[in-house]
Amino acid sequence: MFGLTRARSAAAALATAGAAALLAAPSAVAAPQPIVGGTTTTTSAYPFVMQVTDASQNQFCGGTLVSPTKVVTAAHCMVGETTRSVRVVGGRTYLNGSNGTVAQVSRIWIHPDYTGATNGDDVAVLTLSRSMPYTPAKYVSSSDTSVYAAGTTARVLGWGTTRENGSSSNQLRTATVPVVSDTSCRGSYGSDFVASDMVCAGYTSGGVDTCQGDSGGPLLVGGVLAGVTSWGEGCARAGYPGVYSRLTTFSDLVTAQVTS
Ligand code: ARG
Repeated sequence: MFGLTRARSAAAALATAGAAALLAAPSAVAAPQPIVGGTTTTTSAYPFVMQVTDASQNQFCGGTLVSPTKVVTAAHCMVGETTRSVRVVGGRTYLNGSNGTVAQVSRIWIHPDYTGATNGDDVAVLTLSRSMPYTPAKYVSSSDTSVYAAGTTARVLGWGTTRENGSSSNQLRTATVPVVSDTSCRGSYGSDFVASDMVCAGYTSGGVDTCQGDSGGPLLVGGVLAGVTSWGEGCARAGYPGVYSRLTTFSDLVTAQVTS
């Protein structure tokens, strides 16, 4: 979960390419603000945004409430976790808060084909032991593929680090990023970009992105859950957009979990 960027030995070569891209775009990087780039917000404004925490309520990933007892998150957030080790906290804007609703988890469904974030299938559904008193988010259906048209404005949310290798934000943050075409994202990430399972979002010049700790949280298009924060090369680097699970691909599987 934390620190995941890429899982393969091409990372060094890509880091070099990333540095070259940054040098080639000297004035193109926006002033870094949290998530990376973005503004503070609250769980009152986005009541379906959940903290995924350990048993001591220390947040390590995000999640999205899609029914009173079901939370969509990333599969890579659940590696090594058990129903005893995880909690979901709703209605808590601040990491150091103690308000909101804490739910235990009675079941963890991880996409059965998940092997690693850069191989796709990075989606999981948590079943809560109690209902969350917050309005769930709608999520895309399998036919809603137009949400991923290049240039579409998407919103991301989380408590993750406010710059690459930085520290987490105590307050929930949000930013908007444009959806990137599959062709462009393939150009950035090569075969690690699996177009059937992933969608990219970010500015060519970087500067705004999700980062470590935002994983599992929502990518919204028109207020509807359309992606799950998954991975990227560093954070907010020019030429390296954030990569999100393409929820239309997993919508029917998620619905099977939500209705089970
Ligand atoms: N894998 C990270 C996490 O576990 C999220 C990385 C998102 N990276 C990015 N550049 N958008 O929190």
